[in-house]
Amino acid sequence: MKDTYILAFESSCDETSVAVLKNDKELLSNVIASQVNSHKRFGGVVPEVASRHHVEQITICIEAALEEAAVTADDITAVAVTEGPGLVGALLIGVMAAKAFAWVHKIPLIPVNHMAGHLMAASLVDEIEYPAMALLVSGGHTELVYVASEGDYRKVGETRDDAAGEAYDKVGRVMGLTYPSGKPIDELAHQGEDTYKFPRAMMTTGEIEFSFSGLKSAFINLVHNAEQKGEDLVATDKANLAASFQAAVLDVLIGKTKLALEKYPVKTLIVGGGVSANQGLRERLATEIQDVKVIVPPLRLCGDNAGMIAAAAYVELEKQHFAGLKLNAHPSLVF
Ligand code: KG4
Ligand code: ZN
Repeated sequence: MKDTYILAFESSCDETSVAVLKNDKELLSNVIASQVNSHKRFGGVVPEVASRHHVEQITICIEAALEEAAVTADDITAVAVTEGPGLVGALLIGVMAAKAFAWVHKIPLIPVNHMAGHLMAASLVDEIEYPAMALLVSGGHTELVYVASEGDYRKVGETRDDAAGEAYDKVGRVMGLTYPSGKPIDELAHQGEDTYKFPRAMMTTGEIEFSFSGLKSAFINLVHNAEQKGEDLVATDKANLAASFQAAVLDVLIGKTKLALEKYPVKTLIVGGGVSANQGLRERLATEIQDVKVIVPPLRLCGDNAGMIAAAAYVELEKQHFAGLKLNAHPSLVF
C-alpha cells in the first residue's frame, strides 16, 4: 500500500501544534509552540490571549513541521484537525487553517476529538490490543473511555465537577506555585507523606464517577483555617500538603480505573492527557494494575500536541471518515 502522510493541527487550548505522521506510527515531526508563559501571570489560560497566539503561530508551525518532516505540501495525503472540545476561539484557528490547507491542496479533511487524540497517543509507541480502556486525565477532563475496537469510543464514566488537572492547578495557586501546577506538586509530593488524609470522593458508590471539588475545598479550608490561627501551613508543611493532596487524587484515579476494569474486561489500559505525566500516577499504575497491558505515553506525548491528533486521524483515514469544508469548531464535543 502507498505511504500516507497526515498533516495534523492542534489548537484547542494554549499550545499551537502541527505534526506530520507517516502511516500509522512514524511521527516525522511534532512542532509545539507553547503559550504557557503568557498565561502564567493570570494563573490560568485567558481565551482571548490564546486565540491571538494561535493566529501568530499557526503558519510558522506548519512550515516548521513540513520542514522537519522533510516533506512538501504536495506529499500530504490528508489534513487532520482538533474540532473540539476546547476554547472556541482557539479551536477556530486550527479549523480554519486546516480547511484552507485541505481546500488549496484538494485533499481530505479529518475532524478529530481532542480526547481521542490523548487516547490514541498510545498507538504511536505501542500496539493497542482491543478491547481497551482509557483513563484520560487532563486540565479539562477526567474520564474513562471504553474502546471496543479501533475508533469505537464510548465514555463509561467522568467527573461530576472539576477535572483532576484543574484541581492540581487550583491547589497549586493556593500553594503559591506557578501555573500549571501539576509538575511542581508531583515533585513536592515525593518529598512528603500523606499526613492530612483528605477525602476520597465517591469511593464506595460502585459508580464509575469522579469528583474533585470536595478535595479542592478541603485543601483550601485546611490552609485558610490554619491561617486564621496564625499558622502558615504552606510555608511550614508544603511537602506533606502536596503528598496528601496527590495521594487523595491518585487513590481515586487508581480506584475508579480498577472498578472500570472489573466492569469492562479489556486487554489494554491506556492512560493519557496532561496529568498522565504524573510520576506518582505512573509508579502506582506500574505496581497496582496487573493482568492487562498498560500503555502510558512518554512525556512529550502526554500534554497537548498535534502528533496525537494525527494518530487518532489515521484511524479515521482508514475508514474514510472525512468532513466537508463547512466543518466548524465544537467547543463542547463529547464521545
Ligand atoms: O492535556 P493537557 O496538556 O491540556 C488539556 O487538554 O487540559 O493537560 C494539562 C493539565 C494541567 O492541569 C497540568 O497541571 C496537568 O495537566 N499536569 C500534571 C502534570 N503535568 C501536567 N498534573 C499532575 N502531574 C503532572 N506531572
Ligand atoms: Zn489536552
